[in-house]
Amino acid sequence: MRETGLVTTDPEHAASVLLSGGIIALPTETVYGLAAVALDEAAVHRVFDVKGRPRNHPLIVHLADSGSATAWGRLNDPALALAARFWPGPLTLLVPKTDLVPLSVTGGRDTVAIRIPAHPLAMDVLSRVGTGVVAPSANRFGKVSPTTADHVRRDLGTDVDLILDGGPCRIGVESTIVECTGNDVQILRPGAVTAAEVMLATGLRLHDAHGESRAPGMLLSHYAPDATVRLVESLDEALSARSAMEERGIRCSLLWYDDPDLYALHLYDDLRAADAEGVSVVIAVMPDPAGMGAAVRDRLKKAASAL
Ligand code: TXA
Ligand code: MG
Repeated sequence: MRETGLVTTDPEHAASVLLSGGIIALPTETVYGLAAVALDEAAVHRVFDVKGRPRNHPLIVHLADSGSATAWGRLNDPALALAARFWPGPLTLLVPKTDLVPLSVTGGRDTVAIRIPAHPLAMDVLSRVGTGVVAPSANRFGKVSPTTADHVRRDLGTDVDLILDGGPCRIGVESTIVECTGNDVQILRPGAVTAAEVMLATGLRLHDAHGESRAPGMLLSHYAPDATVRLVESLDEALSARSAMEERGIRCSLLWYDDPDLYALHLYDDLRAADAEGVSVVIAVMPDPAGMGAAVRDRLKKAASAL
């Protein structure tokens, strides 16, 4: 993509736009975020408005380093173990909030979601800003998350003040959210950090290791393309469903990768491509739930439950 007034690769410029009250698209290793300084209430409200997201739907606070996390949240022993093992990285910890965290960020809750992203440009911007930055995925509410700067430009255009282009995201689906608020550790949204890894790092058993997303707002349709997504459990089933549809003149495409990491990497771009090509039905083969497969299954189920 060409460097234009809206798009930059300069983290110093991106940080200055944030510090002057702007909202920007920020690359991370998972998906692009729609960023604002967490303590700037007007900018945070603009993030909700641009996304079209209800104000009671909480935002993740992104920080430059795990040392500053205790200023924002109260991390218990499992949270500290997970932070030490996976930060910076695709892990969000849900913990009790401190007084520093505005209620506008948490949607009125007494917990806060914190993440230290592992993307060189994001880390550079966050350390220049020197405080927490909210960053929900930079898509309109309920739609497919962006994994390139161009996705953001097409979706949000000049509703954002700047797009920081950090190239395609390395992982492709949102971070794993782990709740560490009581005695239990629970995965609220599966991602690149797996349930097995969480159990190993904390020494705790999870009750619902392959559970579906339970973070607020994630129970409804989400990550949804315009096309209908039809889920099947095998490639054979997908091929016969495709022949049957093609016989009836229905435009369909097939979504399948043998490797769950590649599936995650291409998932959102492929759903967008199906819409761009005017496909009516995407036939998606559900991967095995091991490793990244759990996250892909979760996002596909959400994409398929579109109203
Ligand atoms: O990978 C990611 O996590 C990306 C990148 C940009 O960092 N961000 C992202 O943010 O996916 P978002 O807002 O699209 O998804 C965050 C999820 C939401 O479903 C929200 O409900 C949940 O985290 N969440 C945030 N704060 C919470 C809280 N205090 N309590 C419960 N859930 C919370
Ligand atoms: Mg999102």
